[in-house]
Amino acid sequence: MTLEQEIAKRRTFGIISHPDAGKTTLTEKLLLFGGAIQKAGAVKSSKIKDHARSDWMEIEKQRGISVATSVMGFNYNDIKINLLDTPGHQDFAEDTYRTLTAVDSVIMVVDCVKGVEMQTEKLMEVCRMRNTPVLCFINKLDREGRDPFDLLDEIEAKLKIKVHPLSWPISMGKTFKGVYSLYEKSLKLFTPSKTTVEEGIEISNINDPSLDRYVGESYAAQLRADVELLNGVYPELNVQDYLEGKVAPVFFGSAVNNFGVKELLDTFIRLAPPPLNRETTLRVIKPDEQKFTGFIFKIHANMDPKHRNRIAFLRVCSGRFERGNNYLHVRQEKSIRFSNATAFMAQDRETVDEAWPGDIVGLFDTGNLKIGDTLTEGEKLFYTGIPSFSPEIFKEVINKDALKTKQLEKGLLQLMEEGVAQLFTYELGKKKVVGTVGALQFEVIQFRLKNEYGASCDFAPQNIYKACWISSTDEKKLAEFIASKQRHIAQDKDGKLVFMAESKAWLQMVQDNFPEINFHFTSEFKD
Ligand code: G4P
Repeated sequence: MTLEQEIAKRRTFGIISHPDAGKTTLTEKLLLFGGAIQKAGAVKSSKIKDHARSDWMEIEKQRGISVATSVMGFNYNDIKINLLDTPGHQDFAEDTYRTLTAVDSVIMVVDCVKGVEMQTEKLMEVCRMRNTPVLCFINKLDREGRDPFDLLDEIEAKLKIKVHPLSWPISMGKTFKGVYSLYEKSLKLFTPSKTTVEEGIEISNINDPSLDRYVGESYAAQLRADVELLNGVYPELNVQDYLEGKVAPVFFGSAVNNFGVKELLDTFIRLAPPPLNRETTLRVIKPDEQKFTGFIFKIHANMDPKHRNRIAFLRVCSGRFERGNNYLHVRQEKSIRFSNATAFMAQDRETVDEAWPGDIVGLFDTGNLKIGDTLTEGEKLFYTGIPSFSPEIFKEVINKDALKTKQLEKGLLQLMEEGVAQLFTYELGKKKVVGTVGALQFEVIQFRLKNEYGASCDFAPQNIYKACWISSTDEKKLAEFIASKQRHIAQDKDGKLVFMAESKAWLQMVQDNFPEINFHFTSEFKD
């Protein structure tokens, strides 16, 4: 197969949702379609259950199995699908965000009872930054949920993306009859079932009297009225708008009943983009360029504390990756050879000799690689679009064992490189502040520092609202600003300057007082 053919058959995506909306269930059904797993429950068993949410040890346990579920590759209708897991627990870490930088599109799962929830909003913000195409699956139609029109409005309002329904539910909950595909003009009747997939009934004309027979007169009348309204509001899907992340096609279904999942998958492989062009510091790289390039978006470290082994997850962006070849590690300006490379097929890992754009390869690493690193065949460029985002919770690191200072520093550095959290070092007094997205992360850090590095620390809460990366085209003004706010200036892991704002109102005031300074909520920005 040529490089172009390999690219055309790949779809690399992630599923995003708020915990409990049905991401695991949907993942499992997709894997069943791909023949990647044989029975239901295979994915489920590796998931943190509800009751364990507050139990951070479970997160540790999860780390052990999550290598296997981090990337799930499978084939469906001659398409190679790479599904990247975005950890779904409430206290998700920075690397959930990062995973989204390695996908070409996402499927968003929304619970029809709960509507759009907080975590989906946050993840969607990341998608919007990169104009990632989004397909939406409204799940749990077998439950009494919210009015579908209201759900669409809510998605548009909260997620700031236009929607375009491609299917429409006929009632829901106990009286759920099925969905009408607006795209294929066919009806699919709901029968609660965990395994079977039924063919749709073609109803090309919504006024066809057989519709009344299938769903009953009143539901048929309601559907006709809904469809008339929908046809007026949503004339025809503009696929380009979807590909540019402006419109999200919407499907309705019930993952646990395997209802509407096949339609979603079939449409997904037709609409979702193959690996796309990607920006670097030098130029835009096309996936079909002959020379290999890729970047690291995730590091999984210290599964065995006795051996400092790490798996770095490489997203191939262009050309062909070959195991055993020498590649340029651009940041370190050195040649590096990976004789140990793994592909992820469903829940198995196997050694790969080659990989193509869109594929994810696991590289065994002894500490050379960091999140965001670029590998090439010699060109000195860096992939962009893998920023750090401002954390939400900040705490100062207090060393509890002076004799283990070195271990603490090393451990902190390595955990930060792995993307567990972010470290900010203050200019003044070298105070170290860790920032995370979720509160449990602090306990995880404490535990891992002790367990893997023998270091002990406490965390002291800090009154910080956001970390803002600062820049200015006026060097003098920037220096003045830093001098006047010295107590609140820190450096991130790459030495970039960050202003630690104490509150929203205060940040606003500072912004007003220093109009020449630009404040950014992510570490990557263009002035
Ligand atoms: P998550 O990964 O997004 O956190 O969600 P997950 O798939 O684990 O689903 C959360 C719960 O919602 C599960 O129930 C699951 O069975 C249920 N669920 C998923 N899809 C549907 C659906 O279409 N309809 C209904 N009614 N429920 C659905 P659980 O009780 O937490 O787990 P389990 O005991 O069923 O395994």
